[in-house]
Amino acid sequence: MKTIDTLGDLRGRRVLVRSDFNVPLDGTTITDDGRIRAALPTLRRLADGGARVVVMAHLGRPKGAPDQKFSLAPVAARLGELLGQEVSLATDLVGESARSTVESLADGQVALLENVRFDARETSKVDAERAELAGELAGLADAFVSDGFGVVHRKQASVYDIAQLLPAVAGDLVLKEVESLSRATTDPARPYAVVLGGSKVSDKLGVIANLLTKADRLLIGGGMVFTFLAAKGHSVGSSLLEEDQVETVKGYLAQAAENGVEIVLPTDIVAADSFAADAPHATVPAEEIPDGKMGLDIGPDSGQLFAAKLADARTIVWNGPMGVFEFDAFAGGTRAVAQGIVDATAGGAFSIVGGGDSAAAVRILGFDEQGFSHISTGGGASLELLEGKELPGLTVLAD
Ligand code: 3PG
Ligand code: MG
Repeated sequence: MKTIDTLGDLRGRRVLVRSDFNVPLDGTTITDDGRIRAALPTLRRLADGGARVVVMAHLGRPKGAPDQKFSLAPVAARLGELLGQEVSLATDLVGESARSTVESLADGQVALLENVRFDARETSKVDAERAELAGELAGLADAFVSDGFGVVHRKQASVYDIAQLLPAVAGDLVLKEVESLSRATTDPARPYAVVLGGSKVSDKLGVIANLLTKADRLLIGGGMVFTFLAAKGHSVGSSLLEEDQVETVKGYLAQAAENGVEIVLPTDIVAADSFAADAPHATVPAEEIPDGKMGLDIGPDSGQLFAAKLADARTIVWNGPMGVFEFDAFAGGTRAVAQGIVDATAGGAFSIVGGGDSAAAVRILGFDEQGFSHISTGGGASLELLEGKELPGLTVLAD
């Protein structure tokens, strides 16, 4: 992949940057600005080099038309604070406002275009529609820097098509992400342990299948664990269960046994009466979740077990929280895994936290990000890389 260096002298040049500013919002309040902070090195570097920086990004999944709820206004404000310079926000993507905003930029200034997904062509399956939007975006700039690692698995106009129309290079975040994740995919130091959580098995089928040929240990928690427990014949009460995946998971368990991959499941579960922060709850054996009780976290014994299984690992990948960490009563499992990874990292392991939710969990639970080797800004993108897939947003940057 070409890098920013290859663009040469940036002074006075309009550089269009794709960033991933898809941050969690509570109304108009950004609850985790990790993705914005991760974008700063590239943006600062371009601005310091004298470029006129035009950033494009998406927020949420608006339906191809402007929707104030998904405006990037809060992001522009936060980005301005972090950069220490005002970031003007165009009120459209490729219209009058975008053109005049770009025109008024001085060297070293940064502007943001409004949500790329307010234009239906961004995510169109029709190549010509995406190409048309990409052509209009290309008209705003002289070069393209792809730095939205979280979206490089999307074949979308602002990620993929644009790279074919302007001199295109990878930004520093994309380079760092790809470099870090390839330490897990190419000849990982062993033991290689992967912790998977999050709500659904069906979101992780590809990556699980792939890891069963690559990892030494797979630790499973989060909502998806109940489908594993059910596949082992255990009762899961009213916990999240994907009935239609039970057979697939049985196949995984058999394949793991065949390949000598250790699957580590929780031994105890924190089960609640309902899905609520203050729901009455108790720790129960993982084999026997009572009828009507809903597992919302792995239990304390499991937390210790998981930490022990991480202690001697040399490569660790973690994707997906162990429980509903947003509720304090169900954050213990996620906290135990995070601490286990921090300890293993201090002992020399290379650790990657991937997935928007686990990365946010680390920060929300108050862990120091420096305790992990790499905190990925990608959810789906990091999973697809781990799965060994080709990502369109990276392929298009290949020399
Ligand atoms: C993410 O949040 O995973 C990325 O920003 C991609 O968003 P998307 O899943 O809506 O394409
Ligand atoms: Mg997503």
